[in-house]
Amino acid sequence: MGHPDDPAIVLLEHPQHSSGFWEDLSIALVKAGRQVVRIAHAEGHPAPKLHDTDTYTSETLRAILSQLPMRPVLLAAGDHAAAATHAVSHDGALLATGLVLIAPDILPDADVSGVQASLPVLLIAGARNGSPAGVEFLARSLTQAEAVEIGAGEPLAAVECLDAFSAVLIDFLERRLPRSTPEYRLGSDARTLRDALGCFATGVTILTARDGAGLPVGLTANSFTSVSLDPPLLLACIAKSSASSEVFQSAERFAVNVLHIGQQPASIRFSRRGEDRFGATPWEPGLHDTPVLTGSLATFECARHAVHEGGDHIILIGQVERARFEPRRDPLLYFRGKYRRLHFS
Ligand SMILES: Cc1cc2nc3c(=O)[nH]c(=O)nc-3n(C[C@H](O)[C@H](O)[C@H](O)COP(=O)(O)O)c2cc1C
Repeated sequence: MGHPDDPAIVLLEHPQHSSGFWEDLSIALVKAGRQVVRIAHAEGHPAPKLHDTDTYTSETLRAILSQLPMRPVLLAAGDHAAAATHAVSHDGALLATGLVLIAPDILPDADVSGVQASLPVLLIAGARNGSPAGVEFLARSLTQAEAVEIGAGEPLAAVECLDAFSAVLIDFLERRLPRSTPEYRLGSDARTLRDALGCFATGVTILTARDGAGLPVGLTANSFTSVSLDPPLLLACIAKSSASSEVFQSAERFAVNVLHIGQQPASIRFSRRGEDRFGATPWEPGLHDTPVLTGSLATFECARHAVHEGGDHIILIGQVERARFEPRRDPLLYFRGKYRRLHFS
């Protein structure tokens, strides 16, 4: 529900509140400029359990979160709190921007230490059937959490409860996770084109070959992609202005070295003029004596298959003669003109 450009909040609905409550809360959130993703519980069915031993697990939740186009706030009630907390532990800030727990029914020995201090957390108790023990435990364990009690012991009519509840929630969202209006940039100029292309996140490679005198040459390139499996072809685009473009056009063989997270210095070295690229980087002769960078995440040793015209670049297509990779290393990434790091292994 709501506009796809608005920041998202995922509601893990729980039958401790009626489906009307969740519907009205969703409407209030949409009016406040939030996009709502509802994970409903089927009426008349027992509550889906999100503890790790049940049908839904924190892994299911993580899979749902990771498929959303933007990181949402995660809201969970009752005994869904355990799985929600678990799902955003450790690398949770990569999946969610905040966590809201309503009357969390969570065991006091639950391990919540992985929830990062940077993740805003709101704990709400007293919204109809509160669970003060769960809230107290979480408030003690998550020092960054804000804890709010609605009604302070007074029984509230459902509608008042909803109003009080959405006011607390929306205030938290506005303060801690303010909306920012999307600002699409549009244009046909070179700067806009470069910046738009920079939105395509890539790995980083260093292309290597030998020049006519047998000396190793290489340059950093992220314009790498696979082309065909049968025959095994890949390509990279090299600026005609680069010092090594002629070498790559005429070299019978070349290699693509896919860089791991620790090879950022090599990437910088192979993208700057005047650096002793091979002197300062471990490398070794590979198939047909083609230079390959030692310890890369992956290496593709290729025979030149074709060279095509591509405006101010050449499109170099290689046929892979040998591939190797080390599955336990993390890739170096490049996005919007900056090196990025994500740990997968
Ligand atoms: C992350 C990154 C990716 C790059 N990708 C390419 C590319 O795909 N093709 C290209 O020609 N240059 C690319 N460059 C720029 C070259 O690495 C740079 O111009 C290099 O200095 C060329 O070296 P040379 O002129 O000595 O051959 C990239 C640079 C960086 C930092």
